[in-house]
Amino acid sequence: MGLLLSVIDQNFPPKATWGVNDIPDLSGKVVIVTGGNSGLGKETARALLSHNAKVYLGCRDAGRAQEAIEDLKKDTGKDAHLLQLDLADLHSVKSAVVEFQR
Ligand SMILES: NC(=O)c1ccc[n+]([C@@H]2O[C@H](COP(=O)([O-])OP(=O)(O)OC[C@H]3O[C@@H](n4cnc5c(N)ncnc54)[C@H](OP(=O)(O)O)[C@@H]3O)[C@@H](O)[C@H]2O)c1
Repeated sequence: MGLLLSVIDQNFPPKATWGVNDIPDLSGKVVIVTGGNSGLGKETARALLSHNAKVYLGCRDAGRAQEAIEDLKKDTGKDAHLLQLDLADLHSVKSAVVEFQR
């Protein structure tokens, strides 16, 4: 019975009660979005920029990040910033932290 209810819940989720338009003004907030050059990360960056957050895209490929930054600028009028970061490489993670703090 629990499994049946779970299958129904997963396939017919309730209407969302909170969405991107409910995000308050984020002026003065600084956010690092990992994987921000595509998929969920890019959409997250778009929503945050639209609400005036300062956004750093933590990306391993500067070229793909730059394309995303240009796309996001076209859509939101705001500049995201590149933070070069490969999450699979601890040296890169450390460098990114040092760069971010600087
Ligand atoms: N729980 C859920 O229901 C659910 C649903 C959907 C997605 N997810 C999860 O959410 C995450 C994002 O999904 P998505 O669909 O947006 O995926 P995606 O489009 O494949 O995006 C993944 C992002 O992560 C970056 N990335 C991968 N490895 C990296 C590394 N070592 N260092 C830095 N960046 C790295 C990729 O950069 P490159 O362009 O350089 O590869 C890309 O920007 C995934 O982990 C996915 O499994 C969960």
